[in-house]
Amino acid sequence: MTFYADLAYLISAFLFLAGLKQLSSPATARRGNQMAALAMLIAIAVTLVQTEILTWTWIITGVLIGSLVGATAARMVKMTAMPEMVGIFNGFGGGASALVAGAEFLNLQQAGVLPAGPGSTIMLAMLIGAVTFSGSAVAFGKLAGYITGNPVTNNFLRFLNAVLFLFIIVSGVYMVGWDPDMTIFLAFIGVALLLGILLVNAIGGADMPVAISLLNSYSGLAASMAGFILGNMVLIISGALVGASGLILTNIMCKAMNRSLANVVFGGFGTEGATADQIGAGDKTARSVDAEGAAMILGYAQSVIIVPGYGLAVAQAQHDLKKLQDLLEDRGIDVKYAVHPVAGRMPGHMNVLLAEADVPYDQLYDDEEINDQFKDTDVALIVGANDVVNPEARNPQSVIAGMPILDVDYAKNVIIMKRSLSPGFAGIDNPLFYMEKSMMFFGSAKPSMQDLVREVRELD
Ligand code: TAP
Repeated sequence: MTFYADLAYLISAFLFLAGLKQLSSPATARRGNQMAALAMLIAIAVTLVQTEILTWTWIITGVLIGSLVGATAARMVKMTAMPEMVGIFNGFGGGASALVAGAEFLNLQQAGVLPAGPGSTIMLAMLIGAVTFSGSAVAFGKLAGYITGNPVTNNFLRFLNAVLFLFIIVSGVYMVGWDPDMTIFLAFIGVALLLGILLVNAIGGADMPVAISLLNSYSGLAASMAGFILGNMVLIISGALVGASGLILTNIMCKAMNRSLANVVFGGFGTEGATADQIGAGDKTARSVDAEGAAMILGYAQSVIIVPGYGLAVAQAQHDLKKLQDLLEDRGIDVKYAVHPVAGRMPGHMNVLLAEADVPYDQLYDDEEINDQFKDTDVALIVGANDVVNPEARNPQSVIAGMPILDVDYAKNVIIMKRSLSPGFAGIDNPLFYMEKSMMFFGSAKPSMQDLVREVRELD
């Protein structure tokens, strides 16, 4: 059995790696996900059979019940609620690793002393797992609106965090080096859970996607530690993959927002709210356009670049947008999409949304690929995006200074579809709205897009 189990683990590890590789392109990502899920199924089933924890009947019953719950949850969850769902999953992952660490602590503790190697691994797995569990619960609460989205932080809380962290180090070293006392271990768990709550509560609700990808990385690290504890190679490998990829993703998001991780975790950006005179007031005027006018401009253009943003996801206007794309292309117009890496509220938000509407991947370009093309483009059509097209990023004094943006203001005409002049996530006004070449097409993106499609259809 050991030979077959090792072989199955090897196949599982290979599938994890191959699955991750496939995730690097939207065209193969679905298959990559399926490969990784199969790898996990193999790993769990082999572990359960090999260690004679369960019989095949129990395993198959478990798989059926789990698949039913998973498939129902995946069908019911709205695209905009995806970060919440990922948040919960991370929390469960961290919690599972903490439970493994706790069980192994109970096993070893009876001997009266923890061996240094396994002991340190148990403490680390418990710390990271518990922080991930409670931190993810807070992240979920913030995203779902159950608790305040404002960052809860002040000097006292920062001091408290430092004290709690000191306790974790001292008690962890004491339990591994001297006495694995049960009461101290329980206090260790309680403090780790409290740290998770305080650390994530200090981050603003709108920054949660970054926090979640960081927690995702933590859950991978915790799983990897649990793998060391159990001596399970597949868990070590899969945990390390999740840990590393979560960290890379966090880094990509921070870069695309031009913020350091420390600034996301401690900065509370976008939460202050701009004052009235910063937003759409004063002597600035914005020109508006209706569906008929916008249809004329778009329908007689030669090139159009569409810029989707968070508002497209909120309005669920992606299918109507695709209809507009088809109509424009039927008229011989060159249509491209400019997708900013942090447009929306989760990594790949726009890619998923556009894929759902069958927009071909090869028409999607990121900022670096498309920014040179705006100056030769007749119309930039912005649908529910704001910060990612805000030229204020070029102003060194601005809060979004240095954030890479899509250079839509270099296009010959700019049409902006949104409901008002109000700011986006960063909470600052957007001078693009008041430029001479810009036209505001006010309204929620879905009905506006439907009107636009109707008007373009009626053009000769
Ligand atoms: P935002 O700057 O947040 O702007 C979205 C705009 O959509 C709003 O100004 C809003 O204006 C409009 N909107 C909302 N509902 C709408 C509807 N039903 N119809 C039409 N428009 C609607 O979005 P963005 O340009 O996509 O930029 C993303 C922001 O999120 C960036 O600041 C980024 O740093 C931040 N962020 C992103 C991520 C990831 S991973 N994507 C993670 C953390 C933070 P109205 O209210 O006037 O309609």
